[in-house]
Amino acid sequence: MCGIVGYVGAQSALDVVMGGLRRLEYRGYDSAGVALVADGALFTEKRAGKLSNLSKVLSEDTAPPSTLGIGHTRWATHGAATDRNAHPHLGARGRVALVHNGIIENFAQLRGQLEAAGHELRSETDTEVVSHLLEAELDAGADLTTAMQRVCKQLDGAFTLVAVASDDPERVVAARRNSPLVIGLGADETFLASDVAAFIEHTRDAVELGQDQVVTITRSEFDITDFAGNPAEGKRFHVDWDIAAAEKAGYDYFMLKEIAEQPEAIANTLLGRSATGGRLQLDEMRLSDDELRAVDKIIIIACGTAFHAGLVAKYAIEHWTRIPCEVELASEFRYRDPVVDRDTMVIAISQSGETMDTLMALRHARDQRAKVLAISNTNGSTIPRESDAVLYTHAGIEIAVASTKAFLTQIVACHLIALYLAQVRGTMFGDEIGAIVDELEQMPAAVTKVLATIEPVRALARELRDAPAVLFLGRHVGYPVALEGALKLKELAYMQAEGFAAGELKHGPIALVEQGVPVFVVVPPQGRGQLHEKMVSNIQEVRARGARTIVLAEEGDDAVTPYADELVRLPSVPTLLQPLVATVPLQVFACEMATAKGHDIDQPRNLAKSVTVE
Ligand code: G6P
Repeated sequence: MCGIVGYVGAQSALDVVMGGLRRLEYRGYDSAGVALVADGALFTEKRAGKLSNLSKVLSEDTAPPSTLGIGHTRWATHGAATDRNAHPHLGARGRVALVHNGIIENFAQLRGQLEAAGHELRSETDTEVVSHLLEAELDAGADLTTAMQRVCKQLDGAFTLVAVASDDPERVVAARRNSPLVIGLGADETFLASDVAAFIEHTRDAVELGQDQVVTITRSEFDITDFAGNPAEGKRFHVDWDIAAAEKAGYDYFMLKEIAEQPEAIANTLLGRSATGGRLQLDEMRLSDDELRAVDKIIIIACGTAFHAGLVAKYAIEHWTRIPCEVELASEFRYRDPVVDRDTMVIAISQSGETMDTLMALRHARDQRAKVLAISNTNGSTIPRESDAVLYTHAGIEIAVASTKAFLTQIVACHLIALYLAQVRGTMFGDEIGAIVDELEQMPAAVTKVLATIEPVRALARELRDAPAVLFLGRHVGYPVALEGALKLKELAYMQAEGFAAGELKHGPIALVEQGVPVFVVVPPQGRGQLHEKMVSNIQEVRARGARTIVLAEEGDDAVTPYADELVRLPSVPTLLQPLVATVPLQVFACEMATAKGHDIDQPRNLAKSVTVE
């Protein structure tokens, strides 16, 4: 949700900042802009639309040579996606340029005060008030660092701010509250960014800023304080992936690459989980076995695709641990006064680790003294940092906005946590746990098999290009798979797509079925006799009403063959693991459908990957 870059060093700041923005465009692409400091003046350029619009004007423009600058790629919150609302925003006399990620909640009040004092604000954004406030502090004699500290104390909400001043060619100053910011340490150059991807081609040494901190960077140093100006420290880390991971590696889209990377992502998430004695282990554990044994309820909170992973997890957690488990949309959680206490375990699932809805739900849970366990793909991000225990999905960076490999690895992570709890609480024998871990270890091969036979699904997507709507049915863990299949199609192909629990169909949604409507059906493995039989009946019900049935069923399941207009074969796997293979054809279908419609696969309209506003 908005990408931010700052740079000071020996290279062309414009090149570094634009390169960084390119890698952060997944965070928002409503507009983009840069500001450079050169010869005691600010050069700024900004444009609505994707970064390519900005690149185009910059190639026509002659930006002055500069080694210090900032940049921004926006996901609009306050004010439409126009040139005027694009960042950077300037102070009253153009002495300060500022970029911002987040929302200044008290901006209306601050704007009123500024206007009363004669300031003219040019945009509809919440950000512009901050640039005016900063510049007023400079005009009153403060340096940029002090100005930032003073202004931050007046702000409510979530923000990462990065600013430069025309008469200060040595430093970039930034601040952070509730939105991400990392520092990159190069040789004779220093970077600031929302995410390390922005500077990974220059350095892998980074420092993560804590909450409510201000940082000043120069070519060779960085200095961190709190908002009161007291010295503070960030957390140093080394990025363990390189530039190749952030490139498309020959694929047309990141999403295609990420779909293909799923077997490896699952394998990496499973790696190193067995400690001595066959016991499972998490990445960070700040809870004792006694605390885990006392847990009497689990609530999973997440958004979007991660929420669907949570829905799958519920089945495994309740089955293996016998602990009641609820799954809740993070954005709803804290507003319903949930029943949470010290014996509740809240599992927060978030690929980015920065989703504001999830973060706020987590904080609410912690306020009620619940234990919080995070599942995240982003090392050191806010959600894991604020949790009592963490299991990282080692899926590697996910850039396409529509989540794929993160989803599969979130399911794997949830299963590992369920098994971990079963181990600690003694609800399963060690050999039973070991057998399931062995089955999980077969999953990379199973997903590889699905990917190897996926071509007919692509062809089907092209053929169904003009379908007005698509329905998805599932039962048990196939139900969240149906929801995820529908979400993918909405996100990427902008189609009417709905996922239903197959048993619920007859209670309303079956009215949507008419001649030729494509209906995907995720059939449970035959081993789940009752479920399987019921699903075969459901397929017949929709087919009898004219649906075109696209049936996902395991190898050897011949009972469904007579009722399948199209049959997509899945490797035979245990029921609770079936989402890992069944989701893949649905991802590919949505991706191909969007391609056939000519949509932007990696950057669907109106969306952003990391949503840092509530
Ligand atoms: C956004 C993305 C979704 C994602 C959701 C949760 O809405 O567009 O793809 O599933 O956020 O993101 P998280 O990073 O918390 O998993």
